[in-house]
Amino acid sequence: MIEILSDYELDKMREAGKVVAKILVKLGEEIKPGMSTQDLDDIAMAIIKEAGGSAPCIGYGNPPFPAAICTSINDEVVHGIPSKKRIIRDGDIVTCDVVAELNGYNADAARTYLVGNVPEQTRLLVERTKQSFFEGYKKIEIGNRIGDVSSAVQAYAESFGYGVIRDLTGHGIGKSMHQDPDVPNFGKAGRGPRIQKGMAFCLEPMIAMGTHRVAIEDDGWTIVTYDGAPAAHYENTIIITENGPEMTTIEEVLNG
Ligand code: MF3
Ligand code: CO
Repeated sequence: MIEILSDYELDKMREAGKVVAKILVKLGEEIKPGMSTQDLDDIAMAIIKEAGGSAPCIGYGNPPFPAAICTSINDEVVHGIPSKKRIIRDGDIVTCDVVAELNGYNADAARTYLVGNVPEQTRLLVERTKQSFFEGYKKIEIGNRIGDVSSAVQAYAESFGYGVIRDLTGHGIGKSMHQDPDVPNFGKAGRGPRIQKGMAFCLEPMIAMGTHRVAIEDDGWTIVTYDGAPAAHYENTIIITENGPEMTTIEEVLNG
C-alpha cells in the first residue's frame, strides 16, 4: 500500500532530510585516503545523535546490518559494511548510503565520493549516474507514472553503454525506510503507480561501468558487480507536494 502523507508529515520528512543532507556534506568534506570506512560511519552516527535521531539501518535485515550507513567502494555497488579494517585509498570511489529517522519519519540518500586521483572514465561514471537521477527527477510530476521516471533513468544511463542495476530499486519511504512502491531504474513509460500529492519515495540509480549483473559477498550484505567493474550510486528522498516534487536530502536544503 502506498502511504499518503499529510502536510504536517511532509514537514517531518523535511526535518529528517536535513539530518541526512548534513551528513552527506560532512562526509564529502572529511573523506580522505587512509581513513577507514568505520570512520565514515562514526561521523554519520555523531550527526544523527546530535540531531536526536536514530539510524534504522542498525540491526536491519538478516543477518542484522551492523552499522548506521552503508559504505561501498569501487566494484561494490551498495550495502557495504563499514569496518576499521577497510582503508580508503587514493583513486577509490566510495558510496555512502545514509538513512536517518527523526521523530518517526525517515530520510535516505546516497552519494558516490571521488577520493584523490580517480581515473577519467570512472569520474564520468559517477557524474553520469548523478545526472541519470536528474533525468528521472524531471519526469516526476503529479499524474505521471513511476515508469516515466524509471524509463528516463534507464535511457540516459544506457546511452553511455552502462549497466543499470535491476536487482535493487528505489522505494517508498515515510514512517519506515522501505515502503511501497518500488521505484526501478529501468522500465517502460506509462506503466506503474501514478505520482500523487503526499507520496514520498527514493529514486536511486545504481549504475555500473560494465554488466548490470551483481553478486552478493559472503558477509550477506555487500553487493558487487559480477564483472568487477566499478559502480556508482546517487539517491535522494523525494516528497510530492501540491507544488510538485521536492528533494528532502539535497545539499541545498541546508542553505535555507
Ligand atoms: N539505503 C539503503 C537502501 O535503501 C538501506 C539499506 S538497509 C541496510 O537499500 F541495512 F543495509 F543498511
Ligand atoms: Co534507498
